[in-house]
Formats: sequence, C-alpha cells, structure tokens
Amino acid sequence: MGRKFLVALGGAALALSLAACSGGGAGSGEKSGDEKPSDLTIGVSMPTQTSERWIADGNAVKSKLEAKGYKVDLQYAGDDIPTQSQQVDQMITQGADVLILAAIDGTALSSQLQAAAAAKIPVISYDRLIRGSKDVDFYVSFDNYKVGVAQGTALLVGLGLLNKDGSKGTAKGPLNVELFAGSLDDNNTQFFFGGAMDTLKPFIDDGTLVVKSKQTTPEQVATLRWQQETAQKRMENLLTSAYNDGSKVDGVLSPYDGISRGIITALQNAGYGKGAKKLPVVTGQDAEIASIKLINDGVQSSTVFKDTRLLAEQAVNAAEAFLQKKQPQANDTKTYNNGVKVVPAYLLPIATVYKDDIKATLIDSGYWTADEVAAGQAKK
Ligand code: BGC
Repeated sequence: MGRKFLVALGGAALALSLAACSGGGAGSGEKSGDEKPSDLTIGVSMPTQTSERWIADGNAVKSKLEAKGYKVDLQYAGDDIPTQSQQVDQMITQGADVLILAAIDGTALSSQLQAAAAAKIPVISYDRLIRGSKDVDFYVSFDNYKVGVAQGTALLVGLGLLNKDGSKGTAKGPLNVELFAGSLDDNNTQFFFGGAMDTLKPFIDDGTLVVKSKQTTPEQVATLRWQQETAQKRMENLLTSAYNDGSKVDGVLSPYDGISRGIITALQNAGYGKGAKKLPVVTGQDAEIASIKLINDGVQSSTVFKDTRLLAEQAVNAAEAFLQKKQPQANDTKTYNNGVKVVPAYLLPIATVYKDDIKATLIDSGYWTADEVAAGQAKK
C-alpha cells in the first residue's frame, strides 16, 4: 500500500512540476571557496510562521550561520506559493551564495532552482524535498517514513492494541478510527501517511480497526497546507456524517500537532472528554508546546519529536561544505528520489513522545522548560 501510494503521488507531483514555469534571476556567480564568511550570504526560505517549528527552524539556522560569521537573508512566505517564489528569486538576484529552502509546494520552485543552478548557487532542500528538479544539491530531513510508522504505532499503543515494547496489548477490537494526512503538495505527506498506513493496515484488514467514514485514500484524508481549521472542519463533518448513530470514535491518526488540536477541538465541541465520553487517542508530530501541554494533561495521546536544533545544524554543515567547495556528508543516498534524481540526504532520528517521555526527551534536553510545558506556551 505504502509503495503504491508513493509511486502514484510521485508521478502526479512530477507532472505538476513540469507544468510550472516563471521567471528567474542572476546570482552572484561561483565563489572560489576562499572567501571570508562575512563576504558570503545564505538565503533561507521558510514556509510559514503559523507553526512554531518553522520559527524555531528559521531562528536556529540563522543564529548558527551568524555565529560562524555568515550573512543570512531569512524569509517566511506566509504559506503563499507566489510569495515564496518571489522571495527566492530575490535571494538569487541579490547574490545569495547558498540557498536553504523549505518549500510550501515541493514542485513549485523549479524555475528558481534553474536560475540558482545557472548562477552556480548550491541548493539545500530543508526538511521538505523539492521535487521535479535536477538542481537540488542536498537534502536535510528526518527519517520521514519512520515518522509515519511511529504515528501508526503510537495510535495502536494508545488504543492498547500494542504495548510500547511492540508486544500485543490487551485491548480487543473492533475500534473506530479516523485518518488524517498532511498537505499533498508536501513530499513528506506520502512518507508519513505511507508509513502509518503500512503499520495500521493489518489491523484494518482483520477488522480490529474500523474506519467508519470509509475515507482511507490520501486524497480523502489530506489537509491542504496542514491547516488546523481545515482539520477541525473535516473532523466536525466526520462526526455528523459517520457517528450520528450513537457510535464513538476511539482513535484518530493525525500527522501534525496543529491538525491534532483542530481534531481535538471538534471532538470537545461534540461532547468528547466529558463524563463517560472519553476523548479518542490522537497522535501528532513536532512536539509543539501547546500540544505538549495537552499530552501532559492527558488530552492528546502522543507526538513525534523531531529536534529542529539538530536539523538546523545539518543544514549549516551542508551550506558550509558547499561554500568550501566540498560535498556535504550524506547518510542516505537511496530514499529520496525527487522524480528527476535521487537527492543525497542527511536524515536525523525521531522519537515518539507520550506523557511519560516529556521530561526525559523534551525537558532534560532543553527543548522546552518545565514552566513552558505547564503553561503550554513558549517563553522565547
Ligand atoms: C514537516 C512536519 C510538519 C509539517 C507541517 C512537514 O513538512 O516535516 O514536521 O509538521 O510539514 O508544517
């Protein structure tokens, strides 16, 4: 199932990217590798500031580069594709020496990449793979398929069908679950949903898990731009259409904490979480502080933590390697085919966080403080 889905989506994304075209620009030209850091500018393009993780990513990349003496042009695109294209065009015309790009739509930056290649500007794809272009030089991310497996597994553990050590749990089906995926134009979505569905499918096939809405295809369960409100609306619709017979939702696969909060709001508005009507098990991703509080309070069940500090460090290492005329060190040269070529990647590990893991994984590592977890808000 996962593989079939990957192939289908890859084809669609490639077709889209071939259809895309717009202007470009002239960069500063190739460098010798002997320049001082203060003579070099790194363009960093991030998708949105509505999600904490991208703010943390942007700040971490910027401060790590600045600490090494580089100049940084950091831009956020407000989840608007033309804005991002324009910002990247501008970075190129203003003479950026390396680009670090987290794309909104993985297929929409091909012409910018062509312009970057013409100006000999190396391009690092940051967390979201840019598709349909040969001009992506390196990819830094996490093991995105494993994120999906972790989310599927966390749903099974939350429901009591599995224990944390992978052994069989004591719960018995049938249990009702609903499925959510991220934005289909984000290359990661296919890995997250594919990994989760590979994990859940045997339980769906043998009737232990029942998707009452029958919505199981990526297109049916996707959430454009990963928006919380869109997810809330869809959950509300699912409750009124598939659960108006007195039946209850037991679990929801959610790919991202913002989506999880939308789902939880819809459920709470429908009376879940009061009296005997327990909130379903809801998964997540990114360890956003609002969701960590919800996990700590027993409202959300789990999240997948991806340490953006380490990702920023890898992006900075890769940028520096390119500036010194070296190849960045990859630890995966097989997985990330962008439709045109396999992009060498550095992938970081992930960790599932349940309530019991908050202290060891997030507080002790300095990602969040105990006060922030209690307040559900970041201090800085
Ligand atoms: C990232 C996730 C994030 C999602 C929504 C994905 O590309 O890998 O960490 O939750 O975008 O921002």
